[in-house]
Amino acid sequence: MNVGGKHFRTIWLRPDDKRVVQLIDQRFLPHEFVIEEVRSVEQMTMAIREMHVRGAGLIGASAGYGMYLAATEAASRDSFDEHLAWAADQLRATRPTAVNLSWAIERQLQNIAAGKTADEKVALALRTANSIADEDAEHCRMIGHHGLKLIRKIAQRKAGRPVNVLTHCNAGWLAFVDYGSATAPIYAAQDSELPLHVWVTETRPRNQGAKLTAWELGEHGVAHTVIADSAAGYLMQRGKVDLAIVGSDRTTYTGDVANKIGTYLEALAAKANNVPFYVALPSSSIDWRMREGLKEIPIEERDAEEIKWADGWFDGKQVAVRIAPDESPAANYGFDVTPRALVTGLITERGVCEPNEKSICSLFPEHAK
Ligand code: MRU
Repeated sequence: MNVGGKHFRTIWLRPDDKRVVQLIDQRFLPHEFVIEEVRSVEQMTMAIREMHVRGAGLIGASAGYGMYLAATEAASRDSFDEHLAWAADQLRATRPTAVNLSWAIERQLQNIAAGKTADEKVALALRTANSIADEDAEHCRMIGHHGLKLIRKIAQRKAGRPVNVLTHCNAGWLAFVDYGSATAPIYAAQDSELPLHVWVTETRPRNQGAKLTAWELGEHGVAHTVIADSAAGYLMQRGKVDLAIVGSDRTTYTGDVANKIGTYLEALAAKANNVPFYVALPSSSIDWRMREGLKEIPIEERDAEEIKWADGWFDGKQVAVRIAPDESPAANYGFDVTPRALVTGLITERGVCEPNEKSICSLFPEHAK
C-alpha cells in the first residue's frame, strides 16, 4: 500500500543486495517510518519475537525470509542441514499463536530439501520466500475482491449513508505483505467510492488498532474513528455498526477463530445485536490439523509489563509511562478464541464460506479429510 504516495510492501529484499531483508519496523509507527535491515536469522528471530514485524501473514513471510537467510548462512558451514534445523527451531519458538509461522517454516524445509547442492538449496529458499510473500499479497487482494461484495450489499440498503465497519487490532496491510485481510474489503470499498466509515478499536495493551490501523486507514483516506475496546458493544447496541470484519491468527478447519484478545467479546456483542461478524483470512492462517479451537490453539502470554505500561509520542520522541501500581500483578493474554457459532462467515482468497468443516472444505477441497 502507499505511504506518502509511494508503494511499499511490509518486507522485501534490498534491491542491490539480495542477502539483506528490509522491513518496516512497526514499533515506531505511527510516529516514525523506520526501515530495518535484517542480515541474519538471529536478527529475524528477534524482529518477530520483539514485534518489529507482527500479524499472521507478515510473521509467515518473515519466517520465510528468515529461513532463506539461514540457508545462506548454512551454505558456508560444514553441516547445512544442522544449521537449517537449528534456525527452524529458533524461528518456531518466537510466537505460538499465528499458524502462518510454522506453515512457512515447514514449506521452506520441504522445498529446500529438494536441492542437491548448497547453491541449489539457497536458490530454492529464495524462491520459496518470495512465493510466500507474493502469495500472501495476492490472497489478501482476492479477500478484498470477495469482501467488497458484502460491503456493497449493505451499502445498497443504506442508500448513500456510510457503511459502518468495526475492526479490531491490526489485520491491515501492516499485518501482511500488502492489502491486509480485514482491511482489504475496506480498501476495495473505498477505491469503489462506496460511502464508508470504520470503527477502530484501540486494542490494548499494544494498541495496534490506535497506532497501526488508524495510521493505515488515514494514509488511504478512509474515514475512521478510534474507540476504546470496551465501546464496541455500546456502538452495536445503538445500531452504529453494520458489520464487523476482523482478522485471524489461526482458524481451525472447523471454523473456530483465534484472534487478538477482545475479539471474542466483540463477537458476543455482535451476536446479541444481530451484527454480521466476518473473519477475513488467507488459507495460510487455517490450521488443517486442529478441530477444537478452544482446546487446541496455543494462546500467547506476553510480558505483564505490557499491561502495566503504555508507550506513545511526547515532545518529539517515543516515551513509556506506567499506568498500574508497580506492585500490582498483571496478566497479558495475547489472543482469544471465538467459537464458530459466533462467526457469520469467513472471507478467504477463494470466496466467502460458513465457519464449518463442510463449507470450508468446499472452497479448499484439497484439504477435505
Ligand atoms: O500480536 P499481533 O499484533 O501479531 O497480533 C496479530 C493481530 O494483529 C491480530 O490478531 C489480527 O487481527 C490478526 S493477524 C492478521
